[in-house]
Order: sequence, then C-alpha cells, then structure tokens
Amino acid sequence: MRNIILDCDPGHDDAIAILLAGSNPEINLLGVTVVAGNQTLEKTANNALKVVQWLGLDVPVIKGCPGPMVRKQMIADDIHGETGLDGHDFGEIKIKLQEDHAVNFIIDTILNSKEKITVVTCGPMTNLAMALRLQPKIKENIEEIVLMGGAYTFGNVSPAAEFNIIADAEAAYVCFTAGLPITMMGLDVTRKVQVLPEVVERMDKISNKAAEMFVNLMKFFNKSQKEVFGWDGGPLHDPLTVAYLIDPSVVTLKKMNTRIDIRSTDSYGRTNCDYFDYLGLEKNSNVAIDVDVKKYWDIIEKGIRSYND
Ligand code: RIB
Ligand code: CA
Repeated sequence: MRNIILDCDPGHDDAIAILLAGSNPEINLLGVTVVAGNQTLEKTANNALKVVQWLGLDVPVIKGCPGPMVRKQMIADDIHGETGLDGHDFGEIKIKLQEDHAVNFIIDTILNSKEKITVVTCGPMTNLAMALRLQPKIKENIEEIVLMGGAYTFGNVSPAAEFNIIADAEAAYVCFTAGLPITMMGLDVTRKVQVLPEVVERMDKISNKAAEMFVNLMKFFNKSQKEVFGWDGGPLHDPLTVAYLIDPSVVTLKKMNTRIDIRSTDSYGRTNCDYFDYLGLEKNSNVAIDVDVKKYWDIIEKGIRSYND
C-alpha cells in the first residue's frame, strides 16, 4: 500500500491519473493538490473537483500555487481547451475545495503521517518545491517523488523542454536537488502510450461513469493532439506515474544524473539526463527508459472497471 498525495493540473491526462489512483487498493490517496499549469489555477482546481465528484471519490481537493516560482506563467489551452478539461459534461459542481493551501496540506500531511508518503506530481512542481523550501523536515517522511515530466530526448514545448518542467523549471530544480528518491516518467516513455482509437473503443465497451468520462475526455484530447502534433492518439502521460506505483514492472528504469537547466535561454527547462554517465555525477534520479504498453492499458482498463456505477 502506498500513501500518496497526487499533485496535478487537470488536464485530460491528470483526470485519468486521479481515476487510477482513486480506486486502486494498492494506493491510499490522501489528497489531490492542485497547481496552475495546463490552465489557470481557478480552472485546474475546478477540474479536479469535477473529476473527484464525478467518480464519487472521498478525497480532499486542495488548491495550491497560482503560478510558477520565478518565470512568467504559461498554460496549455491548445491541448486541454478553454476549461482545461473540455469534452465531458461533469454537471454542476457541488463539492467544495478544502479551505487550506496545498503547500500547507502537503507539509501537514507529511509531518503528521506515521508512514512515509509518496508525492506524485503530474503538473509543474511548484507546490512540492514550495513545501520543501518552507519545511525541509518533510524530506524525512517522503518515500519517493514520482513525476510525469521532462525527457532525455526532445521536449514538447521547445526542442529542449517538456511542459511540466519548463512551466516552472526552478521548482523542478528544487525537487531534483532535494536529495530524495525521484522517479521520472518523461516524454520518452509517455509518447509510447498514445490513446489510439482502438484504446478508446476498448474502454468504451465498459459501461460505467468512469468509462464514459474516459471516452469523452480522450476524444477531445485526441482531437487537439491531432491538430497540434498530427498524432492519431494523444500520449496519456500522467497516469503512468500511478501505474508505476501499482505495478513497477510497467516501466524500465535507469539510474542516472539529471540536472534541470534554469540558466540558459534556448534550453531553459531541459532535464539534462546523463544517460551514458559522461560526467560521473551522482545518479540522483531513476528515469523511465521503456514502458510495457500492453501492461499499461491493462492497468488503465482495470482501473476503469473498478468503478461500480
Ligand atoms: O507534457 C505533458 C504534461 O504537461 C502532462 O502532465 C500534461 O497534463 C501537462 O501538464
Ligand atoms: Ca498534467
């Protein structure tokens, strides 16, 4: 059983990460913390409420940082649309955000937990970075940081950088230099798990609300991915973090040194992963270099089927 805090910026793929974490017996989802990223914080927080309510999850949703630590804010409305979660009618939101701030929730939950906690980030790492700066003592009770972000090959916002990192590279720098076990699911592997039409059809055969949400969201996600990247299926990035916690064999990991570029212009936000250990530096990260695609979709299908209505 993994105790986790899921920090995200819903976001179509974030929504499926919440779906996967919300129903798996291996995962004790302590809270969904929200950060600005794919859309502004108001929208990503609303979207997290929509998903938690739609799935009937009894999990607190807590709003966090409204923007990056240093750089100018950027969003990804080209992929996720005006609301940040276009494509599915969630109905009226009746549940409320927890009053707290996500950074305080992360600190208090970790400090007060009798067991270690894994922090999963699926958006810019601002909330976790601020928590690490505000209360470094939390490091003693963090089992692992598992992030969707970065790439040891090429980016998806610039040739060098992936969105979650470039959107707040300073926050990623704080997390990658915290001296904590950190496992990175980068574009190198998430691009191999595209939600192709046959995947959507496969999940459409399941008759419950989780499947209905998956299908509607993925149809929109694929439409925008086709327009932007020309792909027939969008890479379902974020749930790979949770799938790894459910079954670590879904990815192949390689220990290597990763440094976040916060200094340069063209390569700002790059995860410089020393795949061949050219520099002989401390191997501070575990980077996913391959993914078992069949196993991944089996995990996703099992997650969707685990919802009753
Ligand atoms: O680059 C992909 C990542 O950026 C995903 O987490 C997606 O949701 C966006 O946040
Ligand atoms: Ca995300």
